[in-house]
Amino acid sequence: MKKIRKICCIGAGYVGGPTMAVIADKCPHLEINVVDINKNRIKAWNDNDLSKLPIFEPGLEEIIKKRRNQNLFFSTQVEDQIKNADMIFISVNTPTKTHGIGAGFASDLRWIESCARQIAKYAEGHTIIVEKSTLPVRTAEKIKSILDLSLKGNKPKNANLQFSVLSNPEFLAEGTAIDDLINPDRILIGGDDMEAIKLLEDIYSNWIDKNKILKTNIWSSELSKLIANAFLAQRISSINSVSALCEKTGANVIEVSRAIGMDSRIGNKFLNAGPGFGGSCFKKDILNLIYICEFYGLKEVAKYWKSVLDINYWQQNRISSLIIDKLFGTISGKKISIFGFAFKSNTNDTRESPAINICKNFLNEGCELLIYDPKVNEKEIASELGKNEKNVDPNIGNWHKFYTIEDSVKNADAIVILTEWEEFKNIKWDLISELMRKPAWVFDTRNICKKEEITKSDINFWQVGISDKES
Ligand code: NAD
Ligand code: UGA
Repeated sequence: MKKIRKICCIGAGYVGGPTMAVIADKCPHLEINVVDINKNRIKAWNDNDLSKLPIFEPGLEEIIKKRRNQNLFFSTQVEDQIKNADMIFISVNTPTKTHGIGAGFASDLRWIESCARQIAKYAEGHTIIVEKSTLPVRTAEKIKSILDLSLKGNKPKNANLQFSVLSNPEFLAEGTAIDDLINPDRILIGGDDMEAIKLLEDIYSNWIDKNKILKTNIWSSELSKLIANAFLAQRISSINSVSALCEKTGANVIEVSRAIGMDSRIGNKFLNAGPGFGGSCFKKDILNLIYICEFYGLKEVAKYWKSVLDINYWQQNRISSLIIDKLFGTISGKKISIFGFAFKSNTNDTRESPAINICKNFLNEGCELLIYDPKVNEKEIASELGKNEKNVDPNIGNWHKFYTIEDSVKNADAIVILTEWEEFKNIKWDLISELMRKPAWVFDTRNICKKEEITKSDINFWQVGISDKES
């Protein structure tokens, strides 16, 4: 039976980097090469100053310190590492298409295709290809056809060339990636080559109980990843829709979540109301699911999943309007502090963060945004909101990034908490109140603050899913 000694991972992003770091840590007998075409990203992965790693994840620095240049290597040598590898993980990005057929819905598979072509060109011997990226169902078929074409035109030196394609989607969540990788709920492997499946299973068995390793056909595996994300997102849209109803009726969404979550059939996770889900995957994966349903003529099913996205967008706009309304219906020329720009806490990732849409809504009303986030840098914010230059049009607002909470609230009319960073839970509100313009407001879209501490500091308070009568 083939032995796995060298692994190559194409794509050193949020999935490739942490996943390979954990495999390297748990399997010191394996050599892991993570490759990427993005030179700056690779440079950052190799930086001696570990605070400069391209990704912030609790626990990641320690593993990188231990394994980097031992059995974990980051480089741009894509061709060489494909050639050397016994097993290749594809962890490249699969964003939503912006042009052509399926634009706005279908996944853009150009990076997947380019990986398949590179593998077809440079691989040697029996190579196992593992789809780690989230892919539309039946993508393995496309990868296989590209690889098969290369087998047909095979040169004699590569006579042993042989490929197996497996699906092994990743379920880690950002902010808890290392813990999720070390203690996953399950590992899913889809495929029909039993030897290749066994070899991949053997890698995970170094630290994961075999009972947690689930084997399915390749299409079930590909589809399960999309469906898992769709179900998680659906729960958030459900509770967010309930948050609006709670605000109208005097019910309290925290209490409702707790009450329904104690039903073991419902479960208590993913029931926190908020400003809507963000992150690079929920929206893109649901759009992709909608596209696939439409493709197979399942219009009603497509419509059903689209409503999950509609509620998400509606919640962001609903919160924006409600805040403007409470600030006497106009925020033109006012200062609003934004607490948190990342799409969730413990990550520096801003992709699809609800903060983006909410901040844009405010800027369009001509206000000044004072943004504070402990991990997101100014460049990232600029890439989402545009440069923070003074606008010629006085109706369009401007933004500034601040490095302390105190600096970000000076003369502010309102604070809007958009990310549930731990440090926002322990703010000394009496000190903050002194720095703000009155009447001052705190809008807590994550339900992380204590009402009494804020209201006793002479600040008005609003929480998502809790009616004014109660809060
Ligand atoms: P990412 O954008 O952070 O990283 C992808 C990397 O792939 C980039 O650095 C890019 O330069 C590189 N790349 C693209 N084409 C390449 C090529 N031909 N050769 C070498 N490198 C190439 O993306 P990500 O967040 O890590 O997501 C990757 C995949 O994993 C996506 O399909 C995503 O849906 C899925 N996923 C993401 C998460 C998450 O939390 N971010 C979790 C589970 C699954
Ligand atoms: C999500 C899934 O949880 C992972 O299993 C999956 O692997 C990943 O997508 C992916 O495919 O990329 P992630 O987006 O990193 O992970 O983070 P989540 O914890 O799922 O949070 C997503 C969004 O939902 C965040 O904006 C978060 O604040 C929001 N959320 C989450 C809520 O508003 N309420 C909740 O109760 C939970």
